[in-house]
Amino acid sequence: MTGWNAENEEAVSAEEAVVMLLAGPPSRVNAWFTSLQMDSRFRVNTFSTDPQDLENKMGYNPEAILLDATIFSGPENLTNFLTKTTSAVYVVLPREAGDDVRKSLSDLPSVRGVFINDINLSQMAGRIYAEVIALRNQAPTMGQVGKGYRTERIAGGLRVITVWSRTGGSGKSTIAAALALEAAQRGIKTLLVGLGVPDISLPTFLNLKTTPNLFGWLANPTFEGGIRPNIQSKGLLDVMVGLQDGIKEKELVKPPEDPASINQLVINATFGGYSIVILDTPVSGAYFNAISASNTMVMVTTPMLDQAVVSAEAYRMAFKRMRDQHRIGVGNVFVVLNRYRPGLLSSNEWHEAADAYTQTMGIGHFPPVAEVIPDVPEVALAANAGRSVLTAGDDFAGPIHRLGDVLYGGGSGSTHEDQKVMHFGPIRIRKGIVGA
Ligand SMILES: Nc1ncnc2c1ncn2[C@@H]1O[C@H](COP(=O)(O)OP(=O)(O)OP(=O)(O)O)[C@@H](O)[C@H]1O
Ligand SMILES: [Mg+2]
Repeated sequence: MTGWNAENEEAVSAEEAVVMLLAGPPSRVNAWFTSLQMDSRFRVNTFSTDPQDLENKMGYNPEAILLDATIFSGPENLTNFLTKTTSAVYVVLPREAGDDVRKSLSDLPSVRGVFINDINLSQMAGRIYAEVIALRNQAPTMGQVGKGYRTERIAGGLRVITVWSRTGGSGKSTIAAALALEAAQRGIKTLLVGLGVPDISLPTFLNLKTTPNLFGWLANPTFEGGIRPNIQSKGLLDVMVGLQDGIKEKELVKPPEDPASINQLVINATFGGYSIVILDTPVSGAYFNAISASNTMVMVTTPMLDQAVVSAEAYRMAFKRMRDQHRIGVGNVFVVLNRYRPGLLSSNEWHEAADAYTQTMGIGHFPPVAEVIPDVPEVALAANAGRSVLTAGDDFAGPIHRLGDVLYGGGSGSTHEDQKVMHFGPIRIRKGIVGA
């Protein structure tokens, strides 16, 4: 099992992830994003493809900016921008840029690195992460301000969540829908995608039609021509219902570089402005593709002994067999025990069993149980009546809300008087800090 311990490097908590802005021509930003989106050390919170938009987006307070300088009309405009920003900037200059430009940019305090033509992100990601974390830790004079500075950032950044497990009927679709409704209620632009085939669950649970659906996107896999016309909206929540024809399931199993792969669907969606993408992922079929497109996993299972074993197997599948094919850090796996009722295993008992199995298999510890959700008859009633499951009572909505705090940011903000948070889309602004 050599190498498995490297999991610790990936086990980055949501708090620690570096908030990153990517700026450059669309094709470059797209390539960078592809390489960063599944790396849980980073949260790409926004993109910019022109300087004015970049200025506007500085309000998001990125900690790091990866900037292709060719979007600026010349070195003066670029320098002007760089002198104003307090983010750590990594600048990529065109080949024709002279040594003098390179040198003068390197001298600016915000500039942490200057590169020619492109940056090898897989090599540089570790360095950027280390530098930004060092900067964070090294700002003692910012004391109080520093605290607010971090917490006022975008809530949770970009999250691509696969809601998955190998347990059929455990509540994956129910919880995917609930987490999506929760994100939308927080004012975050959210896309929920059904990957089960045929997808009967999302249309039923959310009272939507079965068409348009994902089939339309497969035929035209772009944002404007594929996502926009094929979503159905519920307030800020947009839903792309899954395929209806069982024979088409294999259409979802495509390599990441295929323009009609789930990976590209996620990239299209984030370009279209979604900060949260939730994939209702089936037990079999396209689960592999969904996992490879995600940076977060919510594993929904039930508090029964056999399911502890099934879940340990699922964990092994994702973190051993598929290990190099996704970048869900082990710290970004959230285990949910759903449909708990008296007589079933307690969370501790269940975790002990799952953990014993993962240890026997030599793959370290099983991730902790994030929430236990009781069996609430009203959930099934609401689902079948097409009412929001979040109306099914506090026993169900409470755990979903707490998961929302962890996944989307928020936490204490809603409980402590002195930490009132206003929600503006995905940005959280702490009263008294931003206004000051
Ligand atoms: N906490 C709960 N309390 C009561 N009923 C629940 C709860 N969670 C889910 N259900 C019900 O369990 C049934 C199965 O849920 P759901 O369809 O979400 O599971 P799934 O894991 O997506 O299933 P599949 O593996 O078939 O995709 C539904 O009728 C749903 O309403
Ligand atoms: Mg389902």
